[in-house]
Amino acid sequence: MGRLDGKVAIVTGSGRGIGRAVAMAFASEGAKVTIAELDLEPAEEVVNEIKSRGGLAIAVPTDVTNRESVKKTVETTIKEFGQVDILVNNAGILRLNMLQKMTEDQWDAVLNTHLKGTFNCTQAVSTHMIERKYGKVINVVSRAGIQGTIGQINYGSAKGGMLGFTKSAAKELARYNINVNAISPGAATRMTEKIRTDPKLGQVYLEQIPLRRWAEPEEIAPAFVFLASDEASYITGQVLCVDGGLTM
Ligand SMILES: NC(=O)c1ccc[n+]([C@@H]2O[C@H](COP(=O)([O-])OP(=O)(O)OC[C@H]3O[C@@H](n4cnc5c(N)ncnc54)[C@H](O)[C@@H]3O)[C@@H](O)[C@H]2O)c1
Repeated sequence: MGRLDGKVAIVTGSGRGIGRAVAMAFASEGAKVTIAELDLEPAEEVVNEIKSRGGLAIAVPTDVTNRESVKKTVETTIKEFGQVDILVNNAGILRLNMLQKMTEDQWDAVLNTHLKGTFNCTQAVSTHMIERKYGKVINVVSRAGIQGTIGQINYGSAKGGMLGFTKSAAKELARYNINVNAISPGAATRMTEKIRTDPKLGQVYLEQIPLRRWAEPEEIAPAFVFLASDEASYITGQVLCVDGGLTM
């Protein structure tokens, strides 16, 4: 028996990194998974990997910034798998710059992907979840939105906004038996490659992590399985930091 047997999940940005590991973990716990990803090629690889292990998944080209695209992804998932129980708002990008140099395009791209993307996807699935009086939404936030950061004020603002979104959505949707929580991760992915491989910055960063190492995305994924499962039925509006103690 898997902990997510019979459940259907949409994981945005799950062609690589943390989203990929979450999709794989959900599938191995029995969930059917939609890989909602901008890049179709890695998304199809994830689907093949899940299928080769006996799971069920589909790749649906999705741009979370585009409301029509998101609507189609939700419709395709319901057509294919009959329902949506779990949504993970994970898709993300970085556009680094200091406040004074940040362009409007850099600001908009990051806010649209993380914050508006979370609004687009949550609004689209919540209509369906409200009808079924069941749902689990997990938003992927960051220490940047909790404690602030240098050189990515767009990202810190978007992630801080997602925290507010998580708490407000948790309060609005609780009456429909929908739990909304957030995870603040830290993992070795494409997104953190620059920091990890920079000899100076990499060392400085590692010294801030009490566990003194980066996690592989697979080490982060079990926390998502927990919050997506009914073991977490009495948890809502919370932020779980899975980052080696970086955020305390
Ligand atoms: N890696 C970390 O340590 C860390 C720390 C804090 C927060 N996060 C957050 O975790 C999430 C996943 O990051 P990651 O490290 O796995 O990065 P990643 O770059 O490996 O993966 C991000 C994925 O999102 C997809 N994506 C980007 N824009 C999209 C869009 N508009 N629509 C659909 N998909 C889109 C990308 O194609 C990519 O596959 C992000 O929200 C990120 O901000 C990561």
